Amino acid sequence: MKVIEFQGGKVVILDQTLLPNETKYIECSDIECVCEAIKSLRVRGAPAIGAAAAFGMALTAVENAGKGRGEILEALRDTKEKLKETRPTAVNLEWAVERVYRAAKASKKPDEAALKEALRIYDEAVESDNKIGEYGAELITDGDVILTHCNAGGLATCGIGTALGVIKTAARKGKKIEVFADETRPLLQGARLTAYELVNEGIPVNVITDNAAAFAMKNMGITKVVVGADRIAANGDTANKIGTYGVAVLAKEHGIPFYVAAPLSTIDRDTATGDEIPIEFRDASEIIFFNEKRVVADGAGIKSPAFDVTPHKYITGIITERGVLKPPFDKSIKQAFEK
Ligand code: MRU
Repeated sequence: MKVIEFQGGKVVILDQTLLPNETKYIECSDIECVCEAIKSLRVRGAPAIGAAAAFGMALTAVENAGKGRGEILEALRDTKEKLKETRPTAVNLEWAVERVYRAAKASKKPDEAALKEALRIYDEAVESDNKIGEYGAELITDGDVILTHCNAGGLATCGIGTALGVIKTAARKGKKIEVFADETRPLLQGARLTAYELVNEGIPVNVITDNAAAFAMKNMGITKVVVGADRIAANGDTANKIGTYGVAVLAKEHGIPFYVAAPLSTIDRDTATGDEIPIEFRDASEIIFFNEKRVVADGAGIKSPAFDVTPHKYITGIITERGVLKPPFDKSIKQAFEK
């Protein structure tokens, strides 16, 4: 199942808000549609957001093909800014639009260059998932019981996934694995998407409520935690779905290794520490209503941070397409980029 595609001059997006009950694609022929799809999480997960934003740039390039070079670049700049306003935390979005813009600017035919670069970003995302899967699978042992948070699977990337890519690759190599998926309130990416992907892959998965993670670690044999990332600072501090920080602290307390799986496009070396990572706050309605029913007492305030930052001291290793980075992360991250 393709999560996103650039087809016939349109951006075709699998609407993940409807999963697991309905498989429906939307076709975006203007940038407003792509921005809406990113904002409302029809397409979500750091690498997939990056690909969606790159295709948004490609859409503008194709729309403006035939115009003068200056005009095309101006339209691309405009689109780039619109896309950057959609979701602030996953650095892949900013990284992808800047990369497409740079490629267009460096070319005599900016429209063609933008489309080519966007397609390259997509292909690279697929390829890096495969490598992350291979490196990560070496860390997994037969009989592991792995806890994950949110969805860092193929739905969140363009390939087999990052955290789930590690799990799927290990399982495909014959290792027996059981997964615990945190349901991931408020939008249930774990219950709806991670469980869906793993069931389809034939990997045993148990969904637990977010607040059952401590119980599961103490009493249900969790041996490893593997999660994805939205932005990793130069020192290894990692932003991921809200609740990840708590899971990391719990893992430390229980002596359970805590791994982050992410491509280098998720590492932001211009951000020194996690304190500088912008955190998205979501609309109150996502918490007030559950299944379209009001569940919060009228008059109560709502705070809805969508991500938190796990300090690097809780992270055992960062699984990338260039190998597993170990602490001290400031050094290993630098080395990975120099490879
Ligand atoms: O709000 P979401 O669903 O976009 O959040 C997604 C996550 O937090 C993922 O864990 C992260 O993007 C990694 S995806 C490989």
